[in-house]
Amino acid sequence: MSELSGKNTNNRIAILISGGGTNLQAIIGAIESGKLKAEIAVVISSREDAFGLRRAEKHGIKNSWVSPKEFPNRESYDRHLANLINASGAKLIVLAGFMRVFSKWFCQQFENRILNIHPALLPKFPGLHTHQRALDAGEKRHGASVHFVTAELDAGPVVMQRAVDIQPEDTAETLQQRVLNRIEHDIYPTAIQWALAERVTITGGKVLLDGAQQPEQGLQV
Ligand code: GRF
Repeated sequence: MSELSGKNTNNRIAILISGGGTNLQAIIGAIESGKLKAEIAVVISSREDAFGLRRAEKHGIKNSWVSPKEFPNRESYDRHLANLINASGAKLIVLAGFMRVFSKWFCQQFENRILNIHPALLPKFPGLHTHQRALDAGEKRHGASVHFVTAELDAGPVVMQRAVDIQPEDTAETLQQRVLNRIEHDIYPTAIQWALAERVTITGGKVLLDGAQQPEQGLQV
């Protein structure tokens, strides 16, 4: 079937983390439940103390951490990561709370092969402290976006977004939890599945799903 359709059947992903890894856990859960047809080839952390490494360990997933301090500059760190990723055979790189900005070299090397999840409705609120900034701006809705990574921070083509209503009693913490648990953990496995199945293509900076343009910034699901 795959030969007839011409699609690449490699479904290996490399997941990059820096912290708690609840998105990693959601991806593991989606694979175990059969919702996501993927194999996690490796989990790589930029921090030794990232709890996500323990989650990987618990599920028998190959994992390692690479300290940025051991490298003279950003690109040399990224080149090391690239070697690990290429050796793992991963088709897609999945950033799940990886708190580092990539060099141009890395972005070009893996063009259209890196997904990130960002806790805001991009292009609103790229960068940090998104929940507080959404509250301060008086937004009525807030959410998360899955997007392809380009050299410009949080500015690559959006694959999928979902929103929740902001409630008057919301704080940055309650909003963060709602976006993380209700949106991020649900949309990320779906977006990864679309990318692995080669259902998403990028034309003129926009994501097409099954060849069709999505409304505004990615599909509102
Ligand atoms: C998530 O909010 C994600 O959107 C952002 O970093 C956070 C990672 O959380 N990029 P976790 O480590 O997956 O729990």
